[in-house]
Amino acid sequence: VKKYEIVRTILGERWNTAPHYTIKSAFAPTNIALCKYWGKRDEELNLPLTSSLSISLGSKGTTTELKISGKSDDEIYLNGGLMQNDSPFCQNLLEFLNLFRYEQTPRFIIHTNSNVPIAAGLASSASGFASIVLALDGLYDWQLSQDELSILARLGSGSACRSMWQGFVHWHAGIRSDGMDSHGESLRARWPEFCIGLLIFSESEKAIPSRVAMQRTITTSALYQAWPSKVSRDLAAIKQAIGNKDFQLLGKAAESNATTMHATMLSAWPPIIYSVPETLVAMQRIWELRNEGLQIYFTQDAGPNLKLLFLQRDIDNVLANFPSIEIIQPFAID
Ligand code: PMV
Repeated sequence: VKKYEIVRTILGERWNTAPHYTIKSAFAPTNIALCKYWGKRDEELNLPLTSSLSISLGSKGTTTELKISGKSDDEIYLNGGLMQNDSPFCQNLLEFLNLFRYEQTPRFIIHTNSNVPIAAGLASSASGFASIVLALDGLYDWQLSQDELSILARLGSGSACRSMWQGFVHWHAGIRSDGMDSHGESLRARWPEFCIGLLIFSESEKAIPSRVAMQRTITTSALYQAWPSKVSRDLAAIKQAIGNKDFQLLGKAAESNATTMHATMLSAWPPIIYSVPETLVAMQRIWELRNEGLQIYFTQDAGPNLKLLFLQRDIDNVLANFPSIEIIQPFAID
């Protein structure tokens, strides 16, 4: 309900006007946090307790097409397959979409196509919500600013506010209770040699949604009180590292930020562990390779998969050790 007020405030006079086009589609990249968002100060508006910083994954993400339909109900297709409207996926999507529609009209035929594994800690919901917001902006011809679009995407899922831009994005936590100052900002820095390797162990749905895990961590982990100051230090280090193209500084801050986030979860009650045995085997291997002089680091989100961080010059070496990875070069797209 608070969400609805934010949407109306941002749309202003554009609220409840008819769509300008009959069909529009938009792409948004998924993003991986190098300094994580873990903990909300407002559950409904997805306002974070701390700022965070991510890298968008270029052409990896979600394309959503909205088409006005003459039928009595919405139709949702996920990667080409018609979904049941009462499935959790559709409920989530429709609840978000309904924030923007007066009495849920018009009805849409929605095609959402994702080239990242859904709900496997690869932030497909982030690119999903961001692409819906962009498609709506196009369909209604609202011409909202990127900051406004970022705020709207945040109402779907927090990390979605960082998917409004390519490259490095700093999500400012903000201090306002309405969240109007809590949105992404593009750092504009380019780092063409920067590589991310997706090391996937499981594409199955996460056991515990991040919303639930965050809440449980805040309310039960004795370690959580150390988290905000850890984030401030890592955020400063990562920004400095990006400015100076200091890969070792970036890798160390990002990996240690991720392991600290997971340590707060391990100390929650009941404990939360997203890793599977293969996750730990891969971590050990990464540390071994680093001891041998290879500059490779990892980060991990609310799932068992790892995202390897390394530079272009080491691609062959990294591939020799992790042949199954998919490599993304976020700055190779333009
Ligand atoms: O935006 P959500 O609610 O899916 O939460 C994302 C949480 C992490 O992926 C673990 C961290 C982050 O900053 O993306």
